[in-house]
Amino acid sequence: MTQFNDRFLKACRQEMTDRPPVWFMRQAGRYQDKYREIRKKHSLVQICEIPEVCAEVTLLPIEQFGFDAAIIFSDIMIPLGPMGIDFDYKEGVGPVIENPIKSKRDVENLKDLDLGKDLQYTGASLNILKDTLNVPCIGFVGAPFTLASYMLEGGPSKSYIKMKSFMYRETEAWHLLMEKLAKNMADYLLYQVENGAMVVQIFDSWVGILSRADYLEFVFPHMQKMVAHIKAKTDVPVIMFGTNASHLLQDMKATGADVIGIDWKTDMAKAWSDLNYEVAVQGNLDPTLLFAEWSLIEVRAKKILDSMPKRPGFIFNLGHGILPKTPQENVGNLVKLVQSY
Ligand code: CP3
Repeated sequence: MTQFNDRFLKACRQEMTDRPPVWFMRQAGRYQDKYREIRKKHSLVQICEIPEVCAEVTLLPIEQFGFDAAIIFSDIMIPLGPMGIDFDYKEGVGPVIENPIKSKRDVENLKDLDLGKDLQYTGASLNILKDTLNVPCIGFVGAPFTLASYMLEGGPSKSYIKMKSFMYRETEAWHLLMEKLAKNMADYLLYQVENGAMVVQIFDSWVGILSRADYLEFVFPHMQKMVAHIKAKTDVPVIMFGTNASHLLQDMKATGADVIGIDWKTDMAKAWSDLNYEVAVQGNLDPTLLFAEWSLIEVRAKKILDSMPKRPGFIFNLGHGILPKTPQENVGNLVKLVQSY
């Protein structure tokens, strides 16, 4: 086994590295031939539930591109099953929920996770990876808000009217839902850390649809508690990521997170300066740029790299998850570009 590569861990802690570490959100997935091969034999849920297959899929992008971090292969929806939410993945749509939350009673009926039993396979997968990887493995969960949006809307949404109505009108039930999700997801992250995750990321993909006032009233207190709950038990770095969330970055920092994920619409150098360089930042090339000619990708990637001040704490990533049909060659070239920077 080659020497352990701790470049990503160091950058999360704002320690000096020889170059920025690089990994991509959703780096294991359908854009890879090998992933599609495995998907012919196993459903998405099966990949998550069979530790040997989960570990194999987690390793695919590390072997193919030499990323500086792995991310455990799972999905933000997975822990909702054992909490009592039945869902399915619809091709071209995303997660669809059979029994969306409609009332306070539905929230009260949500079960707490019994981690060693309900999600034992994630622990087992992380244990396999601990012995195989020479880069850190990231554990992750969906943030309470993003999970709640699926639970209330029943699937992806454009207007989020059901979710926002519930938030504004059933405010007590909303806070109970957020509290339950924050507690269970924090415990799930700690379980992943116990089993080998060295960094954790909270995906708050859809929180950017809230105004800052709504974020502060309906979400922030729960995020602050969630991070505090994690920090009370471990010192692994916490990454917080949202899209279209440039108006919330200061508040995300105030939750106590160590690294803030910056989406692709935001000027990352300016965002970092606005955050007073007191946290590390991760981002933020537009994932659709990977469909362009290499010459343009190269210009835009260098623009990000050159614009970032030479301070410790910058992690190169995309500004949202990599997309299904992304050309693998462009991914390889982009990773090489960062590696030789
Ligand atoms: O290497 C990795 O990072 C993969 C692990 C991973 C998956 N989902 C696997 C997956 C991670 C980190 C996620 C996070 C996730 N899931 C988020 C947050 C990140 C983001 O992109 O904003 C969200 C919102 C979800 C919910 C979800 N799951 C959606 C919207 C979809 C369908 C979208 C699509 O691409 O079709 C899923 C299904 C899903 N989760 C796939 C994968 C690889 C699709 C591939 C398949 O069916 O095999």
